[in-house]
Amino acid sequence: MLYNINMELKILSKNEINLAIKDEIASLLRRKPNAILGLATGSSPVGVYEELVKAYQVRDISFNEVTSFNLDEYIGLEKGHPQSYRYFMDNNLFNHVNIIKSKTHIPSIDKNSEDYFEKYDNRIKDAGGIDFQILGIGSNGHIAFNEPGTDFNSLTHIVDLKESTIKDNSRFFNNINEVPTKAVSMGLKSIMNAKRIVIIITGKNKANALKRLMSKEITTDFPASILNRHNKVTIYADQDAASLL
Ligand code: GLP
Repeated sequence: MLYNINMELKILSKNEINLAIKDEIASLLRRKPNAILGLATGSSPVGVYEELVKAYQVRDISFNEVTSFNLDEYIGLEKGHPQSYRYFMDNNLFNHVNIIKSKTHIPSIDKNSEDYFEKYDNRIKDAGGIDFQILGIGSNGHIAFNEPGTDFNSLTHIVDLKESTIKDNSRFFNNINEVPTKAVSMGLKSIMNAKRIVIIITGKNKANALKRLMSKEITTDFPASILNRHNKVTIYADQDAASLL
């Protein structure tokens, strides 16, 4: 099997992954207290956020000057819905650290919102660009909500979610009919503009996705494969995800 030499692959336990990414962010914040963080939702980054909260509690890090940009948000959930990504971020990270809420950005389709999607990439650019981007991956290779077939040059846009993503994400809702069918997502180009990217891939259900990501093929059929063209990507995988390598 041919592996791409550009992306670094680290196979660690989940706990080690969370600590390693927390350490990277902590050292970035020491070097650059006003760093721009690109944040993800889903189950993959939850442990990293727990470690960041712990580090904040012992005053190892401060988010006082940090600006954040989230990857994506569902369309159609009412404000404050427990499955909205705003709710997720508030509950898993923002409410537990000293980040300034007005500096946390989640894309929205609301034209009156400061994070209206057409302005989102400019807002990131004006802030100085994302220093550190955390990603998860969907079983079909999506990153953020960039489903298979998404243009590699895409910026923040509205997405029709694929059946497989709706099914994967239905575990967070009472039933599959409650899962939104649309979302707003940073594009693949928006993500590739980040200076440093880490992607968390854990669990047996991601083993096929990791195997495909490690092949040299770069194709819009598997959106995460674009990461092969970035020279500062680390894949953090656990043994279960690496079981097919
Ligand atoms: C959602 C999110 C993605 C995330 C993916 C995987 O579709 N939009 O950003 O990477 O789920 O989620 P999980 O980490 O729960 O497997």
